Amino acid sequence: MIIESITLENFLTYKKFNSTFENGINVLVGENAVGKTNLLDSIYFAALCRSSRGIKDKELINWETDKELKYARIRLKTKSKGISHTIDLSIDPYGKKRVLIDSNSITRIADLLGAIGIVFFSPTEMRLVKESPVDRRRFMDIALSQQDRKYYRDLVDYNKLLAQRNKVLKDYSASSEIDSLSEMITDQMSEKQEYILKKRYEFISKIEPIAKEKHLYLTSGKEVLGLKYETEDIDMQNIVAELKKKYKESLQKDKKLQYTTVGIHRDDILIRVNDIDIRKFGSQGQQRSAVLSLKIAEIERYKNVLGETPVVLLDDVLSELDETRREALIKLVEGCQTFLTCTDFEKKDNVNIYRVTKGEIKRV
Ligand SMILES: Nc1ncnc2c1ncn2[C@@H]1O[C@H](COP(=O)(O)OP(=O)(O)OP(=O)(O)O)[C@@H](O)[C@H]1O
Ligand SMILES: [Mg+2]
Repeated sequence: MIIESITLENFLTYKKFNSTFENGINVLVGENAVGKTNLLDSIYFAALCRSSRGIKDKELINWETDKELKYARIRLKTKSKGISHTIDLSIDPYGKKRVLIDSNSITRIADLLGAIGIVFFSPTEMRLVKESPVDRRRFMDIALSQQDRKYYRDLVDYNKLLAQRNKVLKDYSASSEIDSLSEMITDQMSEKQEYILKKRYEFISKIEPIAKEKHLYLTSGKEVLGLKYETEDIDMQNIVAELKKKYKESLQKDKKLQYTTVGIHRDDILIRVNDIDIRKFGSQGQQRSAVLSLKIAEIERYKNVLGETPVVLLDDVLSELDETRREALIKLVEGCQTFLTCTDFEKKDNVNIYRVTKGEIKRV
């Protein structure tokens, strides 16, 4: 998968922008605040229909734009398995999005996912191992949603049901209907989790050997990485029935706490190095190497499942790595079209360098 061109209109710092890109490593170099991350964000947005930085859609519209023209537009021309595609997204002044793939209107985000496959590295992402389980679940969810639309749809449904149940636990705390209402929702929640759980398990078991190998390489053979999906203690052959049972058991507790304590929204990935849980006890360097190993394994898994390379976005991560890891990373993303941002870059062979100034880029 490669992005052949990006055209932007009123997207963040870019009022009017158009550039072609080649396969291989594209380095976007420029001073702070010139719009390097914004350009990566246009790719991220086209891939996942949201900003990488949690900015609201409406806020992605260039704020210097005239009021009546307050639309942001992104057009990406891509090539996937030899076939060209055009992806158009627009955000109107109220924040409403419109998506077209090859001029056909897309109504559900699930139908956009996978049109552009990305693997994203950023300083925030680099804290994946040490921060909260939310980040590790997001890692799995984004990777799997791009490979599998059913996964994404089930996840969206599950999250809606979870919100409903939490609302019931709060709003009906004094009502006799609470038990039956809750059960109605948890029955559906149990069913929705089956596919998600199986896919998460599979994902972790498939990336573990790859991450282990990359981690050995990054640590010169010193550290053995191990991954394990952490969830409720249930029989995986009988997920739905087992979860229903767990919800029954946790009902009293959940009513007291007024939120749901059982389910995939509580799961995590256990990450061990030489048998030590490095989420808590790892050094910064160990945690960072583990993130690299995990993300590189995500790239490999993407290739294995979809039979092509994802587009790799490296936002400002080189500065966080030492020379050995930097070189290893560049070597390991070889073969994928890569967009890399930094404030400083030494000229190397086989990389395309673009200088970014406010709202513009120029190939050097
Ligand atoms: N809606 C908007 N319209 C115009 N400019 C915006 C908008 N939202 C954010 N900006 C500007 O975008 C700039 C940030 O751009 P970006 O994050 O891409 O910088 P960067 O080149 O990645 O910088 P750094 O090297 O510090 O990471 C900020 O100066 C901010 O004021
Ligand atoms: Mg930036």
